Amino acid sequence: MADYKIKVRRFQPESGQGPYWEEFKVELEPSLSVLDSLLQVKDREDGSLSVRCSCRAAICGSCGMKINGQSGLGCKTQIGEAQELAEKMARATASGPRTREAGREIAGDDERAQPGAEEAAPIIIEPMGNMPVIKDLITDMESTHWTKIRRVTPWLLPHGEAPEREYIVEPESMIDITQSMACIQCGACVSSCLSMEADPDFIGPAALAKAYRFVGDPRDAEGVERLHDLAEDPHGIYDCTHCFSCVDACPKDVAPMDQIMRLRRKAGEAGIEDPNSGHSHELAFVKIIEKKGTLDESLLLQESFAPGIKGKLVPSRRAIKEMLGSIPTAIRGIKTGKMRSLPKLIPGIHHKLPGTAQDEVQAIYKHAEEHNEEFNLYIKGDEGELAEIEAEENLETAIAAPAGEEAPS
Ligand code: SF4
Ligand code: SF4
Ligand code: FES
Repeated sequence: MADYKIKVRRFQPESGQGPYWEEFKVELEPSLSVLDSLLQVKDREDGSLSVRCSCRAAICGSCGMKINGQSGLGCKTQIGEAQELAEKMARATASGPRTREAGREIAGDDERAQPGAEEAAPIIIEPMGNMPVIKDLITDMESTHWTKIRRVTPWLLPHGEAPEREYIVEPESMIDITQSMACIQCGACVSSCLSMEADPDFIGPAALAKAYRFVGDPRDAEGVERLHDLAEDPHGIYDCTHCFSCVDACPKDVAPMDQIMRLRRKAGEAGIEDPNSGHSHELAFVKIIEKKGTLDESLLLQESFAPGIKGKLVPSRRAIKEMLGSIPTAIRGIKTGKMRSLPKLIPGIHHKLPGTAQDEVQAIYKHAEEHNEEFNLYIKGDEGELAEIEAEENLETAIAAPAGEEAPS
């Protein structure tokens, strides 16, 4: 048993007061969960402390919350680990820049633990972000999460006569969507999504992962229509900024960002043009790095709005028009340091890579083309390759095990 201090962000609407922080002491085995600590407080100290939970086994998706600023499940986070993270963050806060999400959240709190003080840093527990709080740690999942899930038509849309019994598909054809099918609708990814913070209308990671579950399903007949819908919506698949936050938050390894990249790949393959030029923007990155080795921001604008003809980095008439319209953005880019020098704005005055570095960059592209890899996606490999890697690892483990002993499984 060990003693822990948890600091909970509370909100009791019936009191007429705003949100406030309250600390509690709990006594638990380190391997027990943060949810267990809340239930202990509820049982022994304050029955009004409100938290949503059911399975206590990372299955039902009810207990989404922020722990030390990181969105996740209360029942899947061990209190011992949460304490270690709280200590680490307190030290980091004292010695330098704060961690992105957690640091920002806790930095706003004047009463945070002072590193160096004798007492251990408290574990900070808050309701999930990007959704209204109903009471204490209970958030309104309906107004954001479920509304967005319904937005993507989360059911199969097959064509033709329904079969007499179930639809039969090859098991292999479902492998691609098993990752998105693992979602338990906990909302942790929605809570952590930085794009949704900036644009609450963004369809969001959970709903887009759900959308891929149907786009990739061989029984669904409206994949292309779904892709048009998600790509042409200005708050759709191109509204994601690749921040990886949802990948870190997801307790079931759904990696919603990867599912969004899969949707983008399919939309690109279907030749769908989106109003934000998101697809052209991705291709522009790939093309400019191939030709120049580093990112030329001035060409990025041009190539995103109107790709050069025949794969060349030559401005077209539309590109010039769009670039003129983007002058305020460019000025902001220079001011914020994103466009580091004025000469870079003028095509042709872009610093080249030293020596043979550019040849090496192109060799990477050549290798990728020969091996069917894509640069604008984070998804690599296929099931065959993964099986091969696993088989190789098993073989290595078996060889490494001393004679007479079984290799660890
Ligand atoms: S990767 Fe995209 S969807 Fe995921 S949290 Fe970041 S912005 Fe949101
Ligand atoms: S994708 Fe992951 S984090 Fe998002 S709702 Fe599903 S299980 Fe939760
Ligand atoms: S209580 Fe079910 S996922 Fe945590």
